[in-house]
Amino acid sequence: MKILITGAKGQLGKQINKEISKNKQCKVIAVNRKELDITDTNSVNQLILGNEPDVVINCAAHTAVDLCEEDIDNAYKINALGVKNLAIACEKIGAKFVQVSTDYVFNGEVNIQYKEDEITCPNSIYGKSKLLGEKFTKEFCSRYFIVRTAWLYGEGNNFVRTMINLSKTNNELNVVNDQYGSPTSTVDLAKAIVSLIYTEYYGTYHATCEGSCTWYDFAKKIFEIKNIDIKVNPVTSEEFKRPAPRPKYSVLDNFMLKLVGLNSFRNWEESLKEYLEGEM
Ligand SMILES: NC(=O)c1ccc[n+]([C@@H]2O[C@H](COP(=O)([O-])OP(=O)(O)OC[C@H]3O[C@@H](n4cnc5c(N)ncnc54)[C@H](OP(=O)(O)O)[C@@H]3O)[C@@H](O)[C@H]2O)c1
Repeated sequence: MKILITGAKGQLGKQINKEISKNKQCKVIAVNRKELDITDTNSVNQLILGNEPDVVINCAAHTAVDLCEEDIDNAYKINALGVKNLAIACEKIGAKFVQVSTDYVFNGEVNIQYKEDEITCPNSIYGKSKLLGEKFTKEFCSRYFIVRTAWLYGEGNNFVRTMINLSKTNNELNVVNDQYGSPTSTVDLAKAIVSLIYTEYYGTYHATCEGSCTWYDFAKKIFEIKNIDIKVNPVTSEEFKRPAPRPKYSVLDNFMLKLVGLNSFRNWEESLKEYLEGEM
């Protein structure tokens, strides 16, 4: 099986590469932004039609949620048009296509876990551009997996590393305590994605670690595991203003993964502990 990973230098791209490389039957082509800019239609076609991968996993995205509010054209170019390029190229050669999406396609106004068929209504440019990426995926590729995840951390910049770095220069931190989600390890997510690509269970999936918390709870748990003595103050989103609005409650239910018997996600605290004890 030949698998192409785009955005291979990102957090998820790196972990997917590691996960797939465990299977010696698989040939991996992992390309970073310099090697393949997904917004460049000709380059996408050349690489995909030239190599004919069986599966394309798109880990490339404009993930700077706040920056997207002002960098609107680029957000849509990367998160929607780039995805369209990949979806069309995959369809031409009959490849399976994995598009990674986000909990921010929901507005998070209701305190219930979102299943895959729940109505989307993003409230940020990032969320809107990712939702258009989902739409293009469905429109232009028949063998697709849309995998929505949330609060991701792995090898790269993320909330966990930000908290640890901030603790080096601050005695106390203010962290938002009125947004709920599920912190998710790239290790768990990569396993789920790789298990899906061997199947023909096409469609949309929610894929996050089990359980949920606020950013404040998440920060407290990071410092507890790392034995870092620091005061953490719970604040509201109103008090901690950011350019992009975030959903209040974007907890996803891995309903479809459970139905197909592929939900191997651990509780978020267990995965976080492994991450903090391992590479950090
Ligand atoms: N991080 C989260 O908390 C989170 C939450 C929910 C969903 N997701 C989704 O999960 C996926 C993986 O996220 P991640 O955390 O691994 O992101 P990441 O670490 O920011 O990686 C994204 C990668 O995409 C690359 N990229 C950007 N524009 C590109 C382009 N035009 N062509 C090719 N590559 C391009 C970036 O390269 P440069 O660094 O060179 O720009 C970067 O290496 C994304 O689809 C994201 O939307 C993430």
